[in-house]
Amino acid sequence: MARPRVVITGGAGFIGSHVADALVGEAEVVAIDHLKAGKRANLAKAIQAGATLVKRDLLRGDLRPIFRRADVVYHFAANPDVRLDRRGTKPTIDENIVATHRVLEACRAASVPRIVFPSTSTVYGEAKVVPTPEDYSPLEPISVYGASKLAGEALLSAYAHTFGVQALVFRLANVVGPRSGHGVVVDLVRKLARNPKRLEILGSDPGTAKSYVHLDDVVTGIRAGERGASGPFSGYNLGSEDAITVRTIADAICQELGLDGVEYAWTGGAGGGRGWTGDVRTMQLAIDRLKRTGWRPRRTSEQAVRAAARDAWTSIHETRAT
Ligand SMILES: NC(=O)c1ccc[n+]([C@@H]2O[C@H](COP(=O)([O-])OP(=O)(O)OC[C@H]3O[C@@H](n4cnc5c(N)ncnc54)[C@H](O)[C@@H]3O)[C@@H](O)[C@H]2O)c1
Repeated sequence: MARPRVVITGGAGFIGSHVADALVGEAEVVAIDHLKAGKRANLAKAIQAGATLVKRDLLRGDLRPIFRRADVVYHFAANPDVRLDRRGTKPTIDENIVATHRVLEACRAASVPRIVFPSTSTVYGEAKVVPTPEDYSPLEPISVYGASKLAGEALLSAYAHTFGVQALVFRLANVVGPRSGHGVVVDLVRKLARNPKRLEILGSDPGTAKSYVHLDDVVTGIRAGERGASGPFSGYNLGSEDAITVRTIADAICQELGLDGVEYAWTGGAGGGRGWTGDVRTMQLAIDRLKRTGWRPRRTSEQAVRAAARDAWTSIHETRAT
């Protein structure tokens, strides 16, 4: 039997490249990435094992040839930053809504049977029920990023029910692990590499309380959700089973890196412990639906953060050495 063909948009990014590593032994893997945030090096292992990387911007040109003969499309390309940068809202809307629509149109034209989409805990906004289940409402995102991913989910649902593609949506907690280029762990480790005595932290002590999930648990969770999927549209929360504050993260990172007596300099942030406007104060996902497939997260938030901090520290020192 021919091996299935999978296309991973954002395949040279953090999560996409690990999904490529997981699939390359059993499928023909094609990664699409414009390589602005993603790196070819992230895919080195997968390419060695037979994956191909196509350098393309999803916002330009005819995408249909890319998705021809694909059995599954993992649409992971996005602007993943919850915090707005100085360019305003347009990059988030373009990369997360316009690009998703273009991918869906191309998949429809190519009769792709299944699309997997990583959404986010930020679609819940400041939920009044924590841990928050998938059927919580009202969905009231407080960031443009959260709104853009919710729009992506809605488009997937509409395409699933209108055009027959099967859609799977995973609402991810904060993902940490090797190759990550953004988020609190990477931010704090980079700052400590520059100055191991004083650490600037966004927000006010003890900061937000959120759930962190290790990349390995994300990959196994997505695969479990895929095995359990039936019907046109399935949505799963995917996270760890606890939440930790930014102070706990900072303490764990300093300890993991063997740094004593680091002075914390809290910026004050956007009030209520938030690091910036649009930062949710408390987040933990109810993951019972995905656990019913037999999947379990193997790491707690703190274990995930500690492992990710060690990886980030090693990668900074390897880069410096080359
Ligand atoms: N990292 C997290 O904590 C987290 C949490 C929830 C959801 N997600 C979602 O998971 C997905 C992957 O996130 P990540 O953390 O790996 O981010 P990432 O930035 O490492 O990966 C995204 C990749 O998409 C590529 N890309 C972006 N726009 C593109 C375009 N127009 N054309 C081609 N390539 C493009 C980038 O170059 C990058 O390689 C995103 O959809 C993100 O919204 C991430």
